[in-house]
Amino acid sequence: MTKLKWGMIGGGAGSQIGPAHRLGASLDGLFEFTAGALDHRPEEGVRYGQTFGLGNRAYGSWQEMLSSEKALANPVDLVTIATPNSTHFEITKAFLEGGFHVLCEKPMTMTVEEAEEIVKISDATRKICAVNYGYSGYSLVRHMRAMVTRGDIGKIRLVNAEFAHGHHADAADADNPRVRWRYDPKQAGVSAQFADCGIHALHMASFVTGQVVTKLSADIVSCISVRELEDDAMVNFRMDGGAVGRLWTSSIAIGRQHGLGIQVFGEKGGLRWSQEQPNQLFYMPLGGRMQVIERGEENLSPEADRATRVTIGHSEGMPLAFANIYTDLAEAIRALKGQRDIDPSANLYPRAEDGLRSMAAVFAVAESGKQKGTWVDARPPMFS
Ligand SMILES: NC(=O)c1ccc[n+]([C@@H]2O[C@H](COP(=O)([O-])OP(=O)(O)OC[C@H]3O[C@@H](n4cnc5c(N)ncnc54)[C@H](O)[C@@H]3O)[C@@H](O)[C@H]2O)c1
Repeated sequence: MTKLKWGMIGGGAGSQIGPAHRLGASLDGLFEFTAGALDHRPEEGVRYGQTFGLGNRAYGSWQEMLSSEKALANPVDLVTIATPNSTHFEITKAFLEGGFHVLCEKPMTMTVEEAEEIVKISDATRKICAVNYGYSGYSLVRHMRAMVTRGDIGKIRLVNAEFAHGHHADAADADNPRVRWRYDPKQAGVSAQFADCGIHALHMASFVTGQVVTKLSADIVSCISVRELEDDAMVNFRMDGGAVGRLWTSSIAIGRQHGLGIQVFGEKGGLRWSQEQPNQLFYMPLGGRMQVIERGEENLSPEADRATRVTIGHSEGMPLAFANIYTDLAEAIRALKGQRDIDPSANLYPRAEDGLRSMAAVFAVAESGKQKGTWVDARPPMFS
């Protein structure tokens, strides 16, 4: 089987998320790193691209990469966009319209209108637009979803999701340019912490329960008062299948490291998973005893088995979760090329629709927060 060709925009030397994408895309030998415009500084992008052997497919800008790849007989099959948020819409739109499949970092866009446009373009061009809610790639998150889908814990009553860390808790650091822009509406948009981290937790709540958010009420606050945008949010929400949702996100929670986790409570049992201990899933059947489900155990769901590689007892972490998004995408691209159905256990990658629902939630949180917690519609106009 020949490898698919993979390209990347952003993710230059020293970037936060670039290395995790390169590890994830290369892990299973399905993609070959072929092209890139890796840095906002053209010369540095070309130089860094050469360190990966990209040759004359190390480009100085994404515009150059788009026009050059379009002219090739064997252009890249998938382009990952890992640039700052405000550039996602323009680059994603251009590559979809240019005939490329895209994996865009979150948040997919800066507005709901842009997100709706991306969904429409992806549909019209029949090009995949995936969004990197990469934590949904963890094996045991996929197993949770499978357990919920097959009814192991019954009808879902409550979901409680968190993404709370403490990395912007130092008030003395508030003016640091690397931190300050995140809380500045001119650069970050209508929301800071919820748009950056809360949407991961919200996506996970939807991914695991199979339900989408319909309305929400938000209490948002800038604990460090010079910040214009929130550094902490508590969001109550309701889902279309009847589940009640609670979500806490924070960047001032000193002592919390990554802080992503989810609990789901149904009529017949409860499940609990935390990203910092991703190889254990806690399952409590009603009236039974707590069970610890280990990643890599025999007879987990096909979705979990497909998403695990090393044997039980050895840790799997974030780049391997990203790798599962890439293996899903490789299968989706091959299915499209071969005009066949995709393997259902691979059909789990987050889509442009998820990116759109997140943007609608971001704006709903900002609106509700402004109105002191009034309940507001959280559905995108095109799905309401
Ligand atoms: N899914 C996740 O878990 C996760 C985690 C962290 C960051 N992110 C997202 O990834 C994106 C990047 O975040 P980061 O923390 O890596 O940022 P960063 O500032 O560390 O790196 C950004 C990189 O993009 C490059 N760049 C900027 N503009 C460019 C352009 N026009 N063309 C080519 N390259 C350009 C920069 O030179 C740099 O190398 C953000 O959207 C962020 O929200 C997602």
